[in-house]
Amino acid sequence: MPNTPPVVAPARGTRIAHIGIAVESLDSLRSFYRDVLGLPEVPLDDSDGASIAGFAAGESLVELLEAERPDSPIGKFVAKRGPGIHHVCFAVDDLDAALERCRRAGIRLIDEKPRLGAEGKRIAFLHPAATGGVLVELSDH
Ligand code: CO
Repeated sequence: MPNTPPVVAPARGTRIAHIGIAVESLDSLRSFYRDVLGLPEVPLDDSDGASIAGFAAGESLVELLEAERPDSPIGKFVAKRGPGIHHVCFAVDDLDAALERCRRAGIRLIDEKPRLGAEGKRIAFLHPAATGGVLVELSDH
């Protein structure tokens, strides 16, 4: 048998699962995404001290994140940098393997192990210092 490289062909492929946008008020922006852009609203649980409003944009979501407390990650982000894009989440076929590839590539991880995110899926954040200043979240499909 010829020595073939391991097949890593993804079942679904990496895609943008959601873009997390830090906002000062969900209610002030809900009508823009829902009524002006016409994106269906998707109910999401609170996560990491943030209330979340989700809007479906094709296969991806826009997640508006409003801090419930000033000392939450979103509260600190808005206080320091103002509202705006907070993170980009990529859904991957094999989250554990993706984290291991990050580790081997020297990418600093915020979450060493996956934990449960807002959509009830396993997620893990990478450190923005390792990814060009963008906070990257990885998740299961
Ligand atoms: Co997220």
